Amino acid sequence: MIIRAETETAPEQAALAALVTRAFATAQVASGTEAEVLARLRESGALSLSLVAEEAGQLVGQIAASPATIGGAEGWACLGPLSVVPEAQGRGIGSALMRAALAQLAARGAAGAVLVGEPAYYGRFGFVADPAVVLAGVPARYVLVRPLAGPTPAGALVCAPALMP
Ligand SMILES: CC(C)(COP(=O)(O)OP(=O)(O)OC[C@H]1O[C@@H](n2cnc3c(N)ncnc32)[C@H](O)[C@@H]1OP(=O)(O)O)[C@@H](O)C(=O)NCCC(=O)NCCS
Repeated sequence: MIIRAETETAPEQAALAALVTRAFATAQVASGTEAEVLARLRESGALSLSLVAEEAGQLVGQIAASPATIGGAEGWACLGPLSVVPEAQGRGIGSALMRAALAQLAARGAAGAVLVGEPAYYGRFGFVADPAVVLAGVPARYVLVRPLAGPTPAGALVCAPALMP
């Protein structure tokens, strides 16, 4: 399995849309619009990081990141969607994508990463719920923060419009 940046080709982007749709068809929590969210991030220029996992020439996973602010402070990245095709789940691919994304964000000097997700899963990557970080309409226990450089500011989390509830 290799992890690399997505390429800007129409076939790869179509394959990624199908991958995201298939992954979220199995998810406990899904809106059914995750592939559309990914496309909107890309089209609006907000897709600051898109890593894909490839096995024997097949795309099996993908993670996206886009710029975010907390309390007006810049330098944060919102992670998601994170997708692994059903037949490849439970083999460490999602974890490898997450670790690679965090390493790339750290290398770029990002302040940290944020996401809305299940604390039981994302805690293993250092994400914690921070009650000082507020996303309107989302329960505080699912608003998770992973600082990479320095303390976490307090205030409203603002992600790309494609991701906002
Ligand atoms: C969530 C997802 C990306 C994980 O990828 P993966 O390659 O299957 O994950 P890994 O193999 O790296 O890790 C599997 C571990 O995560 C756990 N896990 C997976 N999804 C979980 C969830 N929603 N809540 C809690 N734990 C979860 C598994 O139980 C397993 O735990 P273990 O290592 O203690 O046995 C993948 O299952 C997926 O695409 N799901 C559908 C889409 C989705 O829900 N995305 C996340 C929301 S943005």
